[in-house]
Amino acid sequence: MQLNTNFFLGNLGISNAVDTVNLPRHRWYYYKEGFSPTLVEQAIESSKINKNDVILDPFNGSGTTTLTASLNGYKSIGIEVNPFTAFLSKSKIQNVDITTFKNNRQKILDRVEKGAVSPLRGFSTFSETKNLDKWLFNSDVLDSFAGGWKASEKLQSSETRQILQLALIISAMQNCNATRDGKCLRYRDNWKKNGYNKETFLTALDKVFSMIVEDSEHYPILEKPQILTGDARSVLSNKNIENFKLCITSPPYLNTFDYTDIYRPELFLGQFVKNREELYNLRLETIRSHIQAKWENPYCSNFGELYKSSMEHISNHENELMHKRIPLMVQAYFEDMLNILKQLRSKAEKNTQLWFVVSNSAYADKEIPVDLIIAEMAGLANWKLKEVGVLRDIKRRKTKHSPSINTLRESVIILKAGK
Ligand SMILES: C[S@@+](CC[C@H](N)C(=O)[O-])C[C@H]1O[C@@H](n2cnc3c(N)ncnc32)[C@H](O)[C@@H]1O
Repeated sequence: MQLNTNFFLGNLGISNAVDTVNLPRHRWYYYKEGFSPTLVEQAIESSKINKNDVILDPFNGSGTTTLTASLNGYKSIGIEVNPFTAFLSKSKIQNVDITTFKNNRQKILDRVEKGAVSPLRGFSTFSETKNLDKWLFNSDVLDSFAGGWKASEKLQSSETRQILQLALIISAMQNCNATRDGKCLRYRDNWKKNGYNKETFLTALDKVFSMIVEDSEHYPILEKPQILTGDARSVLSNKNIENFKLCITSPPYLNTFDYTDIYRPELFLGQFVKNREELYNLRLETIRSHIQAKWENPYCSNFGELYKSSMEHISNHENELMHKRIPLMVQAYFEDMLNILKQLRSKAEKNTQLWFVVSNSAYADKEIPVDLIIAEMAGLANWKLKEVGVLRDIKRRKTKHSPSINTLRESVIILKAGK
């Protein structure tokens, strides 16, 4: 197996999104699980595609691939199952009319000032109630947000509405009592003392508006991508999706991370989901890399020799796993990956390259070489392996289930479609 530990993009920090906090349009919303636009640019350069070719990302997340392609004048298609992140990626590629935006911004600010009773008051842990000792938003913030949201719904221009609504969500999250930390939302230190309220919300909103105006003026979108909201496992079979020449993507990692749970505040704020049942149904549409929902059991298990030996270890150490459904999840994950690789292959043009960023996982104190397993199984989907380029070793906290593993390899599997 070609594991390239001297990969030209190794240890440059491009498998994470840290640099996006300073980059136009990308900086509107920090998406922790994203990769760097530099990775997309490097893949474009090294695959030598031209501007009529299509770039695809079936796990588009915050839209790093589609935004980078668009800013550089390339055609692209993104697929994303989480309606909040799909909305985020669609908002970032709007060319708004600045005058309309500025006029409507005042309408929003006036309504934020007045406020409205938020439908999220009293729901779950969204607001302060008698029975809770912690809540995500102070009522003043929720009501200010609800006022602004009501005003935004009346706007005629869908582009302006979309961006203003994104600005409202971003500002609400900056005024949320909790922030994302790994797999969960963690309450900020001294969150009660912060005392987020209408004033702090308005200050945040004003800053976000200015940033959006500045970037929209100076960094226009040159080529609009197509962004589809839905489960890549079914959307990819859609006949209307064009063939592609380069795919740059990063699927969920095999680490029980649940994107629908971690983005729950945004999903409810933006009314992308309205109740727990809708949230649960969304979870069922995501790749089977988590154990939080009762998805359909996998039936296939022929994913190559490396998969077999990893699975033997997991099955022989069931008592050391954090949950009894882990073996089933691992099998389901690779079934999903093979399905995606096969569907991508059927849409790939001659000499197409596929850049697939993944991280290894630790189960029962063994590192599961997800990159090498996928590289091996890619042959079953008729892809040729170019190389597995190591991007970095991610530091992880030792856990009681995997006490001796403190780093996990993150790599990009580069595949080529033959004739
Ligand atoms: C590692 S993130 C991708 C981040 C992206 N590269 C970026 O820079 O923003 C994986 C994404 O896959 C999405 N996802 C999970 N299951 C999916 C499915 N069945 N179809 C499409 N997207 C899915 C998640 O919601 C998440 O946004």
